[in-house]
Amino acid sequence: MARHGKVSVIGSGFYGTTTAQRLAEYDIFETVVLTDILEGKPEGVALDINQSRSIEGFETKIVGATTTADGQGYEAIADSDIVIITAGLPRKPGMTRMDLLAINAGIVGGVAKNVAKYAPNAVILVVSNPLDEMTALAQKASGFPKERVIGQAGVLDTARFTHFVAEATGAHVGDVRTLTLGSHGETMVPVPSVSTVNGKPIIDVLGKEKVDELVTRTRNGGAEIVELLKTGSAYYAPSAAVARMAKAVHEDSGATYPVCAWVDGEFGISGVYLGVEAKLGKGGIKQVVETPLTDDELAALKVAAEAVRTKQADVETL
Ligand code: 2OP
Repeated sequence: MARHGKVSVIGSGFYGTTTAQRLAEYDIFETVVLTDILEGKPEGVALDINQSRSIEGFETKIVGATTTADGQGYEAIADSDIVIITAGLPRKPGMTRMDLLAINAGIVGGVAKNVAKYAPNAVILVVSNPLDEMTALAQKASGFPKERVIGQAGVLDTARFTHFVAEATGAHVGDVRTLTLGSHGETMVPVPSVSTVNGKPIIDVLGKEKVDELVTRTRNGGAEIVELLKTGSAYYAPSAAVARMAKAVHEDSGATYPVCAWVDGEFGISGVYLGVEAKLGKGGIKQVVETPLTDDELAALKVAAEAVRTKQADVETL
């Protein structure tokens, strides 16, 4: 397919810049726009990535644009097909994602309003934390249909689970299949019943105790990296996750990914943004997939839904 379309990445921190780099290197978009309120940062990063094009062999152009809190500079994202919101603060060691709620709500709400103004037909992909709440907020602030606002978390959490299972078994990551649903936080729901190594259930390969240990490590996967980095949070795996989602939307692939999507009756759950599997394509969510779950996994998903519902209601009052 010929290179076409425009994707914008809001926020030029590590998450935003690595995402822009990955999107550019796919060489499937005409333009990748990168913005930030830090004057000159997005322009500088854009120039740097553009100068890598002849070495890496891609033609996609990156455009950097400084924006202001009152919306100046957002013309740069005009008519984007996809907008990825990475803006907001990352965690510091000892913080939960929820500690970022109030500060990031102000930032993400403002960004979403500008997206609605300048890119009214875009699919919004949210990665700012706390993820499930910021996704709900971005939908409300943009006024976009719910299927056009999606959060990234499950692709990342699943990749972490897969990595840990591959390390524990010595298998190639390509031979491991795992899945996480639920929230991107305390009520994350790793799903061992559909997780396999070379087609064998991971419970049979590793035993329940080890699987429980890996489930806990997956649930704390972001915090483990925050503790090690000491400043900032993870960005290589997170940017890989959201870039793949953007690619699926751009190519209208219909590929199934675990994402934060609006759930409306699936699994007997309604009216909440929650981590579920869904088919992605033009227009965002094509269909939420009702993954077969054990009774315990379904119960955990319902607990996650209620926890997230309460917090998403809090966001409405901010
Ligand atoms: C993480 O889990 C940034 O929330 C993201 O690393």
